[in-house]
Amino acid sequence: MQYGFFDDNAREYVITRPDTPYPWINYLGSEDFYGLFSNTSGGYCFYRDARMLRLTRYRYNNVPTDAGGRYFYLREGGDAWTPSWMPMKSALDRYECRHGMGYSRISSARNGLAFSQVSFVPLRDTCEIHKITLANESNVEKYADMFSFIEFCLWNANDDMTNFQRNFSIGEVEIDGSRIYHKTEYRERRNHYAVWAVNVPIEGFDTDRQSFLGLYNGFDHPQAVFDGEARNSVASGWAPIGSHHIKAHLAPGEAKTFVFVLGYCENPEDQKWERSVPGGNHGVINKKPANELLAKYGTSDAADKAFAELKEYWRNLLGRFTVDAEDKKMARMAGVWNQYQCMVTFNMSRSASYFESGIGRGMGFRDSNQDLLGFVHLVPERARARILDIAATQFPDGSAYHQYQPLTKRGNNEIGSGFNDDPLWLICGVAAYIKETGDYGILNEKVPFDNNEALADTLFIHLKRSFDYTVTHTGPHGLPLIGRADWNDCLNLNCFSKTPGESFQTTANFESGVAESVLIAAIFAFTGPDYAEICRRTGRDNEAMYAEKAIVAMIEAVNNHGWDGDWFLRAYDAHGKKIGSRECDDGKIFIESNGFAVMAGIGLNDGRAQKALDSVKDQLDTKYGIVLLQPAYKDYHIELGEVSSYPPGYKENAGIFCHNNPWVTIGETVLGRGNRAFETYAKICPAYREDDSDLRRMEPYVYAQMVAGKDAVNHGEAKNSWLTGTAAWTFVSISQYILGVRPVFEGLMIDPCIPSSMKGFTVTRHFRNADYQITVDNSAGVEKGVKHITVDGNPNKGTVLPVFGDHRLHNIVVTMGK
Ligand code: BGC
Ligand code: NOJ
Repeated sequence: MQYGFFDDNAREYVITRPDTPYPWINYLGSEDFYGLFSNTSGGYCFYRDARMLRLTRYRYNNVPTDAGGRYFYLREGGDAWTPSWMPMKSALDRYECRHGMGYSRISSARNGLAFSQVSFVPLRDTCEIHKITLANESNVEKYADMFSFIEFCLWNANDDMTNFQRNFSIGEVEIDGSRIYHKTEYRERRNHYAVWAVNVPIEGFDTDRQSFLGLYNGFDHPQAVFDGEARNSVASGWAPIGSHHIKAHLAPGEAKTFVFVLGYCENPEDQKWERSVPGGNHGVINKKPANELLAKYGTSDAADKAFAELKEYWRNLLGRFTVDAEDKKMARMAGVWNQYQCMVTFNMSRSASYFESGIGRGMGFRDSNQDLLGFVHLVPERARARILDIAATQFPDGSAYHQYQPLTKRGNNEIGSGFNDDPLWLICGVAAYIKETGDYGILNEKVPFDNNEALADTLFIHLKRSFDYTVTHTGPHGLPLIGRADWNDCLNLNCFSKTPGESFQTTANFESGVAESVLIAAIFAFTGPDYAEICRRTGRDNEAMYAEKAIVAMIEAVNNHGWDGDWFLRAYDAHGKKIGSRECDDGKIFIESNGFAVMAGIGLNDGRAQKALDSVKDQLDTKYGIVLLQPAYKDYHIELGEVSSYPPGYKENAGIFCHNNPWVTIGETVLGRGNRAFETYAKICPAYREDDSDLRRMEPYVYAQMVAGKDAVNHGEAKNSWLTGTAAWTFVSISQYILGVRPVFEGLMIDPCIPSSMKGFTVTRHFRNADYQITVDNSAGVEKGVKHITVDGNPNKGTVLPVFGDHRLHNIVVTMGK
């Protein structure tokens, strides 16, 4: 069944009942300040780093679920309710939540009192705005009480949930009229505080949780609300909160608007305190930054203006790639939601979602490089800056810290290194950036190694070190050594973990010098040619020749030792035994090496590529997507690691791990099989499963990392929505390989590979300072092949469109055919 619908004109997903099969969330914020926001007003926000600078508290994995948010309680004539449904699960006469691009809107009504909440983070400022409107839809006067409620997090989200012996004694607040300041630890080393304010006078306030809720009450029964009276409590230790009590008198038909702002403010070290306080500093914080911030959003009009700016920002961004096609599900995903998710993954990496707690994970080296692929066309300047940040954490030998912290931009020692696919993703990300922008200048940027300026060298040298790392780290079959693991973090072939609870990712790694990865070889064969071409295009012919030779040698190694008869092998373990072979009992065939090898064109000439993807279809395909491997591992294999730790059908052990499905999709387009390419695309695409939401459970507008595989009890159920490389890769697969509008070094290539039944489509693409309106005609009913192209009425030579760079719109007509 469906729990809502896509409003394509508004670019919103409209949720029509609050009890979705899981909280369906949205992200607020574009840069620096972010909020997670569920369809019932749950979630939390943070400044830049979800672990270190968290403003509000959230209780993961709580009962009931989704505990913590920006709540508004209403009370009228003794009747109290939450207009966002949760946390009181109030009966509502109507309810709707619209998740849009960087904002969410909840509207509801009970007994003639209508409520609307528009929540967003304005561009540039470090705050959330919650604009609340109360409207009296009845024909009698209404005297309503409204209580706001947030719970402050004591900044460090990990410490906040664990170190109670200290935390219960440190909470501090200040109250100034309608402004509540959270200033825990400001007295010592912090120079930042939070402010929670409303633009009208208040009746009362609360800042101490127990006073507001009652010690034995949950969020669903705040005593102050039920009593209709704030306690004016001032938190000292325990749990600081922010609650305003507002009385609203509404004549029939009258509406009133309130602008709530939740902001993050910083002061210079020497200006932390308000100078005018007698006796010096202590106690009264310098409110200058808060005053400035709040002055901007003091009126409903000002909030509306900031909201309109945000909408315009997204209208522009999404104007860079638009799709018009008969298949509305594809068009809305490729044109809107997939790109939106790419922005979110670029911003968050894998840190903060309803499955990632925000305390564990920094920016992943491989993840962030891949996230670029779906983001670079939106804001190339930010992609550029990100590339330089990532590269600065690389080790001098080309290997990489697996993660780095967004706040310090330093490699994360706790997570370590040794994932031998990591270096290659830097080449992949930089190549995508250069193809998009033509900016070869980035290669000359001086970038530190391991954040050490003394070791700085050009970005080009970083790429060379990445390339060379793979060349110089090969095993007995000439295939790349896997190290700690490759893209599949759970193939821990050198780990041999016996200790319960030990992290497979970080435990001691006994480098065998034997365990090899066919996937890394395929990634090398796919992305290596980009490196060689970058060398050629920048006059480094000798280096290009060296690279091409190394690629040929690698493909040779795959041909000789990476083919199993009907598909590509996956790896060799530390004993030199095959993984992903017909010789294995379980894990006979894996998806990743097959998808990537065909993407790289290995086996194209001798039928092995077709055979490999046919085997993938025969052995791994399901109704809901392609599973990672078969047969699922039934027992723990010490020589394989985490992959065999999962129950069959989940995660890397034969789950539908969506990230790698688009590799097969792209592989199918390399083979020219448009029907099958589209089938694999659509199976994991959430919009096609909107009416199956009871089983899928996750948001119909975003990809999930995993859908339970055919061996799992709940085959078809998705988990880990939002933060997944699936976003970037599916966008690459649909935009560049199915619709076939693909940036290449020399220009914009047009190379569609679509279902034969698709009669055509239109894409507009912003590319290197010009706009291309591309109309593809497939009345011939082919799957692949471009017969001819006209550019502004004139025939185009070949399939690559010129780089105009003239800020104009150009008309491209593409006729497909044999
Ligand atoms: C998950 C992987 C993930 C890894 C690193 C594992 O538990 O199965 O998907 O990449 O952790 O966080
Ligand atoms: C999720 C991780 O973020 C990603 O880096 C990894 O490639 C996949 N899991 C597969 O293990």
